[in-house]
Amino acid sequence: MTTPRYIIDNLPAQVKIPYLHWTEYMESNLSFNLANSEIHTKGHSERVLLYALLIGERMAENTKTDLCVLAHTAIFHDTRRLDDGLDTGHGARAASYYMKYCEINTDIAFLKPASLVMKYHDRDDETGIKAIAQSIPNEAERTIRLYRIFKDADALDRFRLGANGLDTRFLRHQEAVQLVDFARDLVRQTV
Ligand SMILES: [Fe+2]
Ligand SMILES: [Fe+2]
Repeated sequence: MTTPRYIIDNLPAQVKIPYLHWTEYMESNLSFNLANSEIHTKGHSERVLLYALLIGERMAENTKTDLCVLAHTAIFHDTRRLDDGLDTGHGARAASYYMKYCEINTDIAFLKPASLVMKYHDRDDETGIKAIAQSIPNEAERTIRLYRIFKDADALDRFRLGANGLDTRFLRHQEAVQLVDFARDLVRQTV
């Protein structure tokens, strides 16, 4: 865990509890293809987890299970990269790893919305939203909402690429815009 203690201590319980649980879970159990990557590390996934939970918690429509979908997506989403570029398809490989992982391990429940958000996180919004709507028609609205939240969370960690790494005009939610200074500071303190 790289997040400073004072930040963790000030998180609302609905964020703090899943954040600590899933960070520890990722550290202890998940394997990352690009173990030596400097920009797609476990540290990146840990920060994306934090941002996703914070955005999710600030939007009244999200349930505890929705936050769990965001958590599963965050810790698995970049595990199966083959390189540090766009690497289109790493989302689908992560989703396949997630599904197989959940079949073998009983301490994590497979959540289909998480597998879809993960699978399409490396596609543009239009493509991802269309594919999700076709894959899970009964839960399309909810899954697309979580997809857009997750993409903002992943984008907020672009400050690890440099002070100008993120064009904030592309953020999809006001809740994410409110986290821009926090995300910039967190990278400065931990990367
Ligand atoms: Fe990714
Ligand atoms: Fe990522």
